[in-house]
Amino acid sequence: MERLQKYLARAGVASRRKSEELITAGRVMVNGETVTELGARVQADDVVWFDGELVVPERLEYFLLNKLSDVICAVSDKRGQKTVVDLIESPVRLFPVGRLDRDTTGIIILTNDGTLAHSLMHPSFEVDKVYKAEVEGEVTESELDRLRNGIELEDGLTAPAVVLLMGKRPGGSFVEVAIHEGRKRQVRRMFDAIGHPVWKLHRKRYAMLTDNGLAPGESRQLTGEEVMALRKLAEGKKS
Ligand code: URA
Repeated sequence: MERLQKYLARAGVASRRKSEELITAGRVMVNGETVTELGARVQADDVVWFDGELVVPERLEYFLLNKLSDVICAVSDKRGQKTVVDLIESPVRLFPVGRLDRDTTGIIILTNDGTLAHSLMHPSFEVDKVYKAEVEGEVTESELDRLRNGIELEDGLTAPAVVLLMGKRPGGSFVEVAIHEGRKRQVRRMFDAIGHPVWKLHRKRYAMLTDNGLAPGESRQLTGEEVMALRKLAEGKKS
């Protein structure tokens, strides 16, 4: 079920606000009846007409992409850089939910569902995100404790992070970090703050979604259950 004005907007009839005006002006019919109240809701099998023409809304599509490095999280780029949208074949116009830096690899959702995307990107939506980082130098547990306790960055104190030292190699360390904030370049800035710049960064989990079975550069459609679970999560977290 969705509000009639949203349905009209999704079908490209007009913006949501303009659609409200069209409804109150009596220009919209649902199942053969003119509807003028704004609270009206429609479902998939309802037949909607605007000015005597059948309205066909765009299908909602949801993809999970395992982004490669050197690909930007945008819908297009003036300088011809490859974007996440270029990596997915879809009949509808998709956009990324949030962003990963150009050099960061890993999972990102792409959809044309503006409502879900808006909720997921809202600052109150503190979804768990897990990153694998390869950082410069051999980090110590006491340095990682600074990230676990929250560390002062230029835009304020970070929330406590779950941080695991996964291994070391000469001159570098492998660390897994779980955060639920979504500040710009947050993980990179956290490691800069403890003196261990990030060499490589990969997002392996976003909420309940993981990169399991998705090769670098590959994408798949989300299942109905995954979409429902994300919607539920977004509903529960909205302020
Ligand atoms: N944190 C970063 O620093 N970069 C990303 O791409 C994602 C999280």
